[in-house]
Amino acid sequence: MEQKQLGVRAGVSGQLFCFGFGYTCSRLASRLRLSGWRTAGTVRSLREKEPNEDLELYRFCGDAPVAGGFDVFRNVTHLVASIPPGEEGDPALLQHLADLRALPSLEWVGYLSTPAVYGDRGGAVVHETDLPNPGSERGRRRLAAERAWVSAFENTDVSVQVFRLSGIYGPGRSAIDQLRSGKARIIDKPGQVFNRIHVDDIGTILMASMQRPNHGRIYNVADDEACPSGDVIRYAAELLDMEAPEPIPFDSAELSPMARSFYSECKRLDTARIKSELGVKLAYSTYREGLRSILDDA
Ligand SMILES: NC(=O)c1ccc[n+]([C@@H]2O[C@H](COP(=O)([O-])OP(=O)(O)OC[C@H]3O[C@@H](n4cnc5c(N)ncnc54)[C@H](OP(=O)(O)O)[C@@H]3O)[C@@H](O)[C@H]2O)c1
Repeated sequence: MEQKQLGVRAGVSGQLFCFGFGYTCSRLASRLRLSGWRTAGTVRSLREKEPNEDLELYRFCGDAPVAGGFDVFRNVTHLVASIPPGEEGDPALLQHLADLRALPSLEWVGYLSTPAVYGDRGGAVVHETDLPNPGSERGRRRLAAERAWVSAFENTDVSVQVFRLSGIYGPGRSAIDQLRSGKARIIDKPGQVFNRIHVDDIGTILMASMQRPNHGRIYNVADDEACPSGDVIRYAAELLDMEAPEPIPFDSAELSPMARSFYSECKRLDTARIKSELGVKLAYSTYREGLRSILDDA
């Protein structure tokens, strides 16, 4: 596999731009800033954002170009696309495809996708080589967005990678937080399992890919133990010395359309590729390590 001399690889600082500077991107950017990177990104509302001289945030709602014009992309070397696609497609590509293709500094793009592109697999193990077969509109849009990002940079020097992320959790967004805020629920759907991934393991995987770009490559991004969500809530309750909530049968649970679509599919993600090709060792290979560390660091 070709290994380009990237900023990260050579120990030189790069410049990160994130379309959708949400939970995952902000954790990644904080780590890169420690190595001297410049970081910037978009949000829909600049209100309530902490001013930070090392971070530039721009308003972008997907219906018009990023406020600030082409200048906001100047010298960007690495880009993470983290905005869910809409009906029309990926908002960043719809507004800025030409700008990004004209950006001479750009080397690497990470597209944050979801395992919804695989569709329901009845609990079977899914590999990146398996053909996608989305069973939901959400999955179909994602698959189209993945393909649009990869094809946008075909035959260029920019390498685009796709990351299919399982359920993201970490500090401030975990079963521990749900229990503490009284919002934890155990949805009981017999046989239902899914993987999770700690937000900082995602950061590690993205940084490893920056060092080993591979255009068009897809990576399952998940921990090593798919399990029912009830197991996670019960374990967090045990750590907190609290009672776990009573399970609610799936059929009678009040769920958002997004959650219902999520629970309608069941699969286990194979994660050999992130280890063999990117050399990643997960810091939190199951929810147990992840939850314990969240509690210890609180
Ligand atoms: N959460 C999960 O378990 C999970 C699992 C698999 C994949 N994913 C996907 O992985 C990506 C990263 O996840 P995350 O949880 O880190 O994301 P997140 O915290 O929800 O951040 C998403 C970012 O996208 C921006 N955004 C959302 N819709 C937008 C729109 N229509 N136009 C412009 N900006 C928009 C948000 O802006 P504001 O900051 O203004 O809100 C936010 O900055 C997302 O695409 C997510 O859907 C998530």
